[in-house]
Amino acid sequence: MKRFDDVAERVPGQTPETSRLSGTGSGTLGDGICFGGDYNPEQWPRETWAEDVELMVRAGVNLVTVGVFSWSTIEPSPGERRFEWLDEVLDLLHGSGIAVDLATPTASPPPWLGIRYPETLPVDRDGVRLAAGSRNHYSPASVVYREHARALAVDLARRYAKHPAVRLWHVGNEYGELDYGDEAAREFRGWLQRRYGSIEELNDAWGTAVWSQGYGSFDEVLPPRKAPYLINPAQSLDFRRYSSDQLLTCFREQRDAIRAAGATQPITTNFMGFFPPVDYWSWAGEVDVIADDQYPDPASPHAASDTALVQDLMRSLGDGRPWLLMEQAIGAVSWRKHNLPRSVDEARLNSLQAVARGADGVCFFQWRQARTGPERFHSALLPHAGADTEVFRGAERLGADLKRLRPVAGERVDARVGILFDWPSWWAAEEPARPTERHSTLEQLRRWYRVLWRHGVPADVVRPGADLRGYHVVLVPHSYLLEPRAADRLREAVSRSAQVVVGAFSGVADANAGILQGRFPVLLRDLVGVSGEEWMALPDEPTPLSLDAGWDAAPRGEHSASVLGERLRSDGADVLATFGDGPLAGHPAVTRNRHGAGAAWYLGAVVSDALLAAVLEAALHDAGIENALGGRVRPGKQLPDGLEVVRRGPALFLLNHGRDTAELELPATLHDLMTNERIDRATALAPGTALVLIEGRTT
Ligand code: GLA
Repeated sequence: MKRFDDVAERVPGQTPETSRLSGTGSGTLGDGICFGGDYNPEQWPRETWAEDVELMVRAGVNLVTVGVFSWSTIEPSPGERRFEWLDEVLDLLHGSGIAVDLATPTASPPPWLGIRYPETLPVDRDGVRLAAGSRNHYSPASVVYREHARALAVDLARRYAKHPAVRLWHVGNEYGELDYGDEAAREFRGWLQRRYGSIEELNDAWGTAVWSQGYGSFDEVLPPRKAPYLINPAQSLDFRRYSSDQLLTCFREQRDAIRAAGATQPITTNFMGFFPPVDYWSWAGEVDVIADDQYPDPASPHAASDTALVQDLMRSLGDGRPWLLMEQAIGAVSWRKHNLPRSVDEARLNSLQAVARGADGVCFFQWRQARTGPERFHSALLPHAGADTEVFRGAERLGADLKRLRPVAGERVDARVGILFDWPSWWAAEEPARPTERHSTLEQLRRWYRVLWRHGVPADVVRPGADLRGYHVVLVPHSYLLEPRAADRLREAVSRSAQVVVGAFSGVADANAGILQGRFPVLLRDLVGVSGEEWMALPDEPTPLSLDAGWDAAPRGEHSASVLGERLRSDGADVLATFGDGPLAGHPAVTRNRHGAGAAWYLGAVVSDALLAAVLEAALHDAGIENALGGRVRPGKQLPDGLEVVRRGPALFLLNHGRDTAELELPATLHDLMTNERIDRATALAPGTALVLIEGRTT
């Protein structure tokens, strides 16, 4: 059996050997499921610390993140070190059995750094140098910033590498800073030089003959600063790649310093789901445990499925290994315009949802609600009003529930559906000046995923080009950039009998955002058996589609296309739906190209929800995909509205996010891990409640 602690021994930057931790209850960071949150004792008088720890114990907290924003407390003047308070805090926590995720406080430098070294402050695309007074005011390219951050990480690690409370290291916070200043320009040029070798290669890749942009040397190249009109999309794309890599350099420098100073615990940083600035595929192999911050908007009708998608992404980034929900809110956040809170029941449901989808820890921002500063109205496990509150009682209940989920820790979620997503493709697809800005990668990804979610089918999010063996269905909602290797993997999947479904406006461009020449999708034409010649925005009024009478699984009702359509012709694929009107009248809109037992489906438009569901359900059905309850997916037979069903190892999670009681048929009589109650085969789940079911009683 391999425990996460062993993973810390691996060489930084290499993906650890994956392991199946079956039914042992050995989670990411020790026994069972972690529970806790950000703890910022430096923001409070010492007198509160004992009360904090006492209440943490009461709530079942076993992991807290300490020190994320404590740089000015540790280093109030250049070179000074004040660690005594931290010694005391770590000892206090350890004395009560609470483990620490110790942070390098490098996301928020003290004011003196920017005053002494203005070049450490970032410059935005308008050329404005940002000031201190908030947080995140650093340039990832600044040598001086990086050196100060590294020095602090070294001293922290030297002091605490062997402290028994420290179970995890947390480098920086939510990496995502962008900088367009002169040091960034220098780093960007170096990055480009490494990528292209010569300026001629860069000119060629970027197509700089357009608008007289030909560069004579790398010294002439700038970040995409504010300019009179549209920026070269290849320049923007490379700047995004560079910016993600530059942040990764900052992370690595601190991580390697911590390791070199003798720390053996796992090292991580907190991701942010589908966060535009950072390509988490390239980061994933650099952290020892995937950790994520999740703040779904309670006002969104799709919050539950969108969050499930993020959670599946996190599991996938770690190759299926358990991950950590590092931050979420127990009630309201304070950074939206109108901060609808979630109830403690909803917070509980989302916490169980994370565990269902592979998390071995559920933490919150933050432990004690801030009295001062911009986040004073952000919820916390311990609110301003104290422990005699709904929220704190909710935290206690959650702590007790999570303790009962020990048998799930370390377990895996088995997904037979892969869904392609990649940051560079997303970046390139969102550049302005395209057929329509109404077409969004993330929105399409979420719509497609929602169909799976409503059927209780988990998916792995897959980086294009990755091995697709093991997937019986592969979905490609919108891969705007498609490289030959990724196209090959899709072809191989179909030849192994998989069902592959490709969405509109995919396979459009190469790695440098240049449009592939020829009838599209150039690299997939043979696979999908259709080819196209024109992409176009569709009118506001939905365009009707007519379904082929021979399509046996054709859904009932009226169907339409909107946003974007393609002028296609079939080169051998079965045409399942055709545009009934408008400039594309008579052209195929949905097709299927059979290859033995496999098939490649193609959508030549953004089709209405019901038709999208019908196509994906048919592909799932044809591939024999089962839902978490063990039944084969059947077209039109979704789970009750709002009900989420996930299997993780021996446990079946039922989560009712809906407004109605959900009635369902279980595969057997089971026991709820949280209450140990026997649950009959025909069961009903009240809104906002959850069951975590296993066979046999636990006590
Ligand atoms: C992020 C940060 C935290 C806090 C929360 C508030 O997740 O990491 O420091 O600001 O947002 O929601």
